[in-house]
Amino acid sequence: YRRLRVALLGAGSVGSQVAALLLKHGDELADRAGAALELIGIAVRDLDAPRETDLPKELFTTDAESLIVGADIVIELMGGIEPAKTYLLQAINSGADVVTANKAVLATHGPEIFDAADQVGAQVYYEAAAAGAIPIIRPLRDSLAGDRVQRIMGIVNGTTNYILDRMDTEGAEFADVLAQAQALGYAEADPTADVEGYDAAQKAAILASLAFHTTVPLEAVHREGITTIDKTAIEAARHAGYVIKLLAVCERLENETQASASGEAISVRVYPALIHRDHPLASVHGANNAVFVEAEAAGNLMFYGAGAGGVQTASAVLGDVVSAARRHIAGGVGVGESTRANLPIVEIGRVTTRY
Ligand code: HSE
Repeated sequence: YRRLRVALLGAGSVGSQVAALLLKHGDELADRAGAALELIGIAVRDLDAPRETDLPKELFTTDAESLIVGADIVIELMGGIEPAKTYLLQAINSGADVVTANKAVLATHGPEIFDAADQVGAQVYYEAAAAGAIPIIRPLRDSLAGDRVQRIMGIVNGTTNYILDRMDTEGAEFADVLAQAQALGYAEADPTADVEGYDAAQKAAILASLAFHTTVPLEAVHREGITTIDKTAIEAARHAGYVIKLLAVCERLENETQASASGEAISVRVYPALIHRDHPLASVHGANNAVFVEAEAAGNLMFYGAGAGGVQTASAVLGDVVSAARRHIAGGVGVGESTRANLPIVEIGRVTTRY
């Protein structure tokens, strides 16, 4: 096999699992990719930090830039905006394809990164950036490219779903379950990002951009978290036949505005909503995620599975690595980002809270 050099940036809960799986299943992945995937190094901030998996010490370095220069594929799993964004651009400009799970960078600087990749013919893979292990980026970008998505309703944050579910099924207290979600590794480093809906809003911006072939800036996403939801609210919802979920709703609005030639606009919003107990989204328990897609021709589709967790999310990252390797072997023919329409985005907040 031709040898492809893979650089990993970040060895947190997802990164350490990606490295371990890459080393463990290297031969099998090589057969699938048509290329030997050689992990040339893992860039970290602190060489002595504890890791979740046992990895060869000699792979670790603090010199991310040198690692990037020598790589064919760069996997960025550091999270946060900087230095991740700078490293992604460096990787693209040095001719590598990039794989990232970084929803914060994509939701805030996606167009800049995609443009940089387009200019040099590189590809950006980000299946793990929304809804963890669940394949949802490719389905929206590729499988549904011939259809018209009307609406997405997503449970896209594992931590808040875990909290709300435990409060609903066990009458647990918010603070206790949040601590458990943190201990289980679902929560962001700062759990405010989860409970205040920032994490879900970033994922909603990414999903809506793909679903509607446009660019949805993070600022255009209406956002509310779950910190105001108490036992009383959950009880009241149950008595009315509903369950409370933090939903990311991405919706195409027809005839809503004169601002676009087509008379269309979109709305993207995150808030605690009431889901009828008969709706498939009501049965999404624990830290699982689900993305319910309503498309004109396909009808209703639901994508369900682990939305958080290191090894689960590593699955999506490695799928992207295999895709990137196949593209290299095929001579760099990319799928490209779809042409971006300029749909107006309307802030309509809680247009309805019942689904
Ligand atoms: N903190 C995130 C969640 C991790 O709870 O869903 C996955 O992005």
